[in-house]
Amino acid sequence: MTDAPILEAHGVNKSFGPVHVLHDVDFRVYPGTVTALIGDNGAGKTTLIKCITGIYPVDSGEFRFEGKPVHVSGPKDVAELGIEVVYQDLALCENLDIVQNLFLGRERLKYGLLDEPSMEQAARDTLASLSVRTVKSVRQKVSSLSGGQRQTVAIAKAVLWNSKVVLLDEPTAALGVAQTKQVLDLVRRLADAGLGVVLISHNMNDVLQVSDRVCAMYLGRVAADVPITSDTRREFLVELITAGRSGDVGLLNAAEGV
Ligand SMILES: Nc1ncnc2c1ncn2[C@@H]1O[C@H](COP(=O)(O)OP(=O)(O)OP(=O)(O)O)[C@@H](O)[C@H]1O
Ligand SMILES: [Mg+2]
Repeated sequence: MTDAPILEAHGVNKSFGPVHVLHDVDFRVYPGTVTALIGDNGAGKTTLIKCITGIYPVDSGEFRFEGKPVHVSGPKDVAELGIEVVYQDLALCENLDIVQNLFLGRERLKYGLLDEPSMEQAARDTLASLSVRTVKSVRQKVSSLSGGQRQTVAIAKAVLWNSKVVLLDEPTAALGVAQTKQVLDLVRRLADAGLGVVLISHNMNDVLQVSDRVCAMYLGRVAADVPITSDTRREFLVELITAGRSGDVGLLNAAEGV
């Protein structure tokens, strides 16, 4: 882990109408590091990701990428920076095959036609680089894939574009034990390859297994942003999520969300 964050959010506030969802949120992503973003349902995790990626405009706050201030105003801007997101609701097209999904909206052309061989090869190479072995053909429709395989394709889509930061919103939520392991292995490999990875998860065992740091949100605030060590206990994380505080760590007056 290097000391400098690749992506930083400072003092982010976001309201939906009268509902103040994010309060002065600071969040950092480091290269080569898995940062877990945890919090109860409705804590604001997905909203924070959507603010970072320019899907929601923020009321106030600043963002830095590789140390420089950035203003993103949509998914295209963040993709250009090298930030890719895999949303909770995957956003793959079921009726398209793996290659078509990977290149959707960014198809490779040759002489004005789709360059299928090149896209197929890139799809195979990307899956192979991620050590994905369970997908039989890159021409399989997504509708014929298992949940874990779909998640893998969504992650492959995110890393195909030489990304530097990958944000994963609950990639293992719907997966069985074996598939969860595959996706977590993939998450680790991305970080080991130098990417800054954010893992949103409700599964504290997954978080402890694969993450280097954890940012815990409670009622739209950051309750703690700490490294995970061999001493980090599951109960500590659960207390941060459910009470905003554990021992000396966390928000004062957490019960009021202050
Ligand atoms: N588009 C929206 N309009 C109005 N309120 C919203 C919108 N999106 C989110 N919220 C509210 O913001 C709060 C945070 O939601 P968010 O989806 O960020 O939570 P989360 O931490 O991702 O939860 P989960 O673990 O269930 O995915 C919730 O109270 C939610 O109702
Ligand atoms: Mg969410």
